Amino acid sequence: MTIEIKSLTLSYDENVILTAADLTLAKGEILVVLGPSGCGKTTLLRAIAGFVKPDTGTIHLNGRSLANLQPEERNIGMLFQRPVLFPHKDVIGNILFAYRRKKDRRMEDVDEVMRDMGIYSMKKQPIETLSGGEAQRVVLARALLTNPELLLLDEPLSSLDVDVRRQLASEIRATLKAKNIAAIHVTHDHEEAAIIGDRIIEWSELHPTESE
Ligand SMILES: Nc1ncnc2c1ncn2[C@@H]1O[C@H](COP(=O)(O)OP(=O)(O)OP(=O)(O)O)[C@@H](O)[C@H]1O
Ligand SMILES: [Mg+2]
Repeated sequence: MTIEIKSLTLSYDENVILTAADLTLAKGEILVVLGPSGCGKTTLLRAIAGFVKPDTGTIHLNGRSLANLQPEERNIGMLFQRPVLFPHKDVIGNILFAYRRKKDRRMEDVDEVMRDMGIYSMKKQPIETLSGGEAQRVVLARALLTNPELLLLDEPLSSLDVDVRRQLASEIRATLKAKNIAAIHVTHDHEEAAIIGDRIIEWSELHPTESE
């Protein structure tokens, strides 16, 4: 099991977002979560990544509890709707900045991941000159380079044209499968969900007690 979430609850003041959410992911499994806007999908991913603390419940990643780990200690990658990059740095500068603290850095790995994501020829291009799809490719390359145990994808394709979205969805799937990386992907797009996911669940399925 990659991830195991048990009875996770989380509220913002009196606004209850997660009520006893249960979720497990097999090794290398790609799960897609669908649900209406505002239901709590981003909140769930943020809790797994460690940006927000659940009230109760447990999250285990490859058998170890995440309860007392800071986000940077969790070995989890996260992509957002808008790529978070330094706009004035070039592609390679952005990737190397994220990679700077890692031990055993190898330029071959950097080149390989850039080739995998189809951005090798854009190495020297400033981020602000890239298209939306190219910028998400950079973010993905950067995340993959840290060898995450889990990747969280929070609607990273939602602002892209339908053709680019399809293309990137199938490339993301192929890359995750080749590297055997488990992922939770959030989207509103059923076609994208079918392309990328091994399994698709609706938000209500996370809350068995509520849907009874
Ligand atoms: N830091 C916060 N403080 C208070 N309320 C918050 C906070 N973050 C999110 N919320 C509220 O929690 C609810 C769930 O938000 P969340 O962003 O998780 O939804 P979502 O399912 O990702 O929606 P979308 O599909 O639109 O991205 C919303 O009502 C939101 O306003
Ligand atoms: Mg969201």
